[in-house]
Amino acid sequence: MNILLIYATNSSGTLVASELIRDTLQNQKHDVTMKRANQVELADLKAKFDLVILGSCTWGRVIDHRWVQGQLQDHLFELRAKLIKANLLLPGHKFAVFALGDSSYTEFGAAADKLVAMVNDLGGELVAEPLKIDGWFFHQEDNEEKLAAWTKRLAAG
Ligand SMILES: Cc1cc2nc3c(=O)[nH]c(=O)nc-3n(C[C@H](O)[C@H](O)[C@H](O)COP(=O)(O)O)c2cc1C
Repeated sequence: MNILLIYATNSSGTLVASELIRDTLQNQKHDVTMKRANQVELADLKAKFDLVILGSCTWGRVIDHRWVQGQLQDHLFELRAKLIKANLLLPGHKFAVFALGDSSYTEFGAAADKLVAMVNDLGGELVAEPLKIDGWFFHQEDNEEKLAAWTKRLAAG
């Protein structure tokens, strides 16, 4: 498969997780283009990849003068806004989403829910269950196993 992996990170966990996804897929002979969300152009998404993987850490942002938990990282938040503004529709395009988070927050891993909404905005098709990863750097070995297993299921189609 020809796969585009778009990620957004604040403290590099989602980057490291994305590198693991990329390496796992490349080991299975898939082609993977990895891009940070602020480097993604509309044309990247219009190109017909066999699969687009979206990954974000879960963070807070100020909305209506209030700090709201459970949000996308800024770069993916801005990309989503750009796609909505452009009214981009990608029916028939396949997506998978994952988010890093921490279950000490009430809105655990809610960036994954925002990514599902983003795929729905685009009219795309989700081909795997959204993955929420808890405390990436605190339980890295377990999380790597979980992520590799999810990725292999993706690769198997
Ligand atoms: C200011 C701040 C806000 C956060 N908000 C949430 C949240 O609402 N929900 C959640 O599950 N995790 C939250 N987290 C935890 C991060 O998502 C988690 O540490 C993640 O691994 C960071 O990924 P990154 O290294 O790619 O930035 C927050 C962390 C910080 C520092």
